[in-house]
Amino acid sequence: MENFDYNYMEASKKTILITGGAGFIGNHVIRFFLQKYDTYHIVNGDKLTYAGNLENLKDVESSPNYSFEKLDIVDLEAVKAIWEKYNITDVIHLAAESHVDRSIENPAAFIETNVIGTANLLAVANEKWGSGDHRFYHVSTDEVYGSLGETGFFTEETPYDPRSPYSASKASSDHLVRAYFHTFELPIVISNCSNNYGPYQFPEKLIPLMINNIINRKPLPVYGDGTNVRDWLWVEDHASAIDVIFHKGKLGETYNIGGENELQNIELVHMLCDIVDEKLGRPSGDAKSSIKFVTDRKGHDHRYAIDASKIIKQLNWKPTIQPREGLEKTVDWYLEHSDWLNNITSGDYKQYYEKFYTH
Ligand code: NAD
Ligand code: DAU
Repeated sequence: MENFDYNYMEASKKTILITGGAGFIGNHVIRFFLQKYDTYHIVNGDKLTYAGNLENLKDVESSPNYSFEKLDIVDLEAVKAIWEKYNITDVIHLAAESHVDRSIENPAAFIETNVIGTANLLAVANEKWGSGDHRFYHVSTDEVYGSLGETGFFTEETPYDPRSPYSASKASSDHLVRAYFHTFELPIVISNCSNNYGPYQFPEKLIPLMINNIINRKPLPVYGDGTNVRDWLWVEDHASAIDVIFHKGKLGETYNIGGENELQNIELVHMLCDIVDEKLGRPSGDAKSSIKFVTDRKGHDHRYAIDASKIIKQLNWKPTIQPREGLEKTVDWYLEHSDWLNNITSGDYKQYYEKFYTH
């Protein structure tokens, strides 16, 4: 992650509201910024939904330039209060309902947090910020572009074509963010990223769900025929991309972020089976025998693939870790953090799992 030819340590003082900082990507972004910038104060504003976990930030919570505030971004007055309390100068907005399957069950929660919540943050930023040096960074997803066939890539010019309530809510929020740039000259940047993986990911998502099930010798539910393709990015590489875009991205612009690491789901699950079997000293092929092809996700997008040449060429960013190495590191982390995994999977998760996978 030190492969960049710039150093922002001389950067001015900022008080950055990072929303959703207790979630999977958010905790990595907070850790990255706290380790790199001692002139910034980071305010983590998070509602602590099922996906938010302060355990994810235990190692940095006592940093002098870090504060946590329990914040629901849907509550406009609460957003204003945080702004006033800290005099927020910049925003990195990650808070969202993020799981596609849950959006199929309950779209309303996604519209509230992802659309209304984003609209609230924009309104307050626009009201409070004058012409000073500010930045509103909206973290979004490649799913806004829809679904690809076997060829082609999403570029920043690909027309939006969201196909799930989750991606439609993120697309709506992207449009709102751009509208504030054009209408009010709010200093915004947006990034649209591919699938992240790594430590601290909630085990509703494919990789940690499979790791947890392999460890516990449970069935491994692969949707459809397993040929859907995702482009996997190591989560710390996403954090480093957010760092460069936050500091060097051109106002009003969008940057696609991706790992250039496409895998079919079934290939990925096979890799995870082999890695976990080997690390647990189980016979080769043991975990694979638990793979079950189950009913497909409704409206399941076939393939996502990112053309990341804009951020690579213009901002000198590149991903650092290939999937095999990243998956090994991820499995090691989950094996070493069995308490974290057990805590997360002991409560509501059981009901969630029962509802989605047993019925
Ligand atoms: P996550 O579900 O792990 O975390 C979301 C966080 O937002 C949680 O801490 C949760 O408590 C918080 N939150 C939810 N509703 C809130 C509300 N109303 N007010 C305040 N906080 C609230 O999600 P993630 O995977 O870390 O994703 C973070 C962001 O990155 C999201 O905007 C997502 O759309 C985007 N993204 C994710 C991926 C990925 O692969 N995970 C890829 C591209 C983009
Ligand atoms: O592309 C970026 C997006 O990646 C983010 O915006 C989302 O927040 C994030 O959740 C992720 O969305 P996906 O739907 O691609 O991720 P998920 O881990 O849910 O699923 C990955 C693939 O694996 C997908 O094709 C569905 C499949 N799958 C998933 C689960 C949970 C299975 O086959 N079985 C499963 O049990």
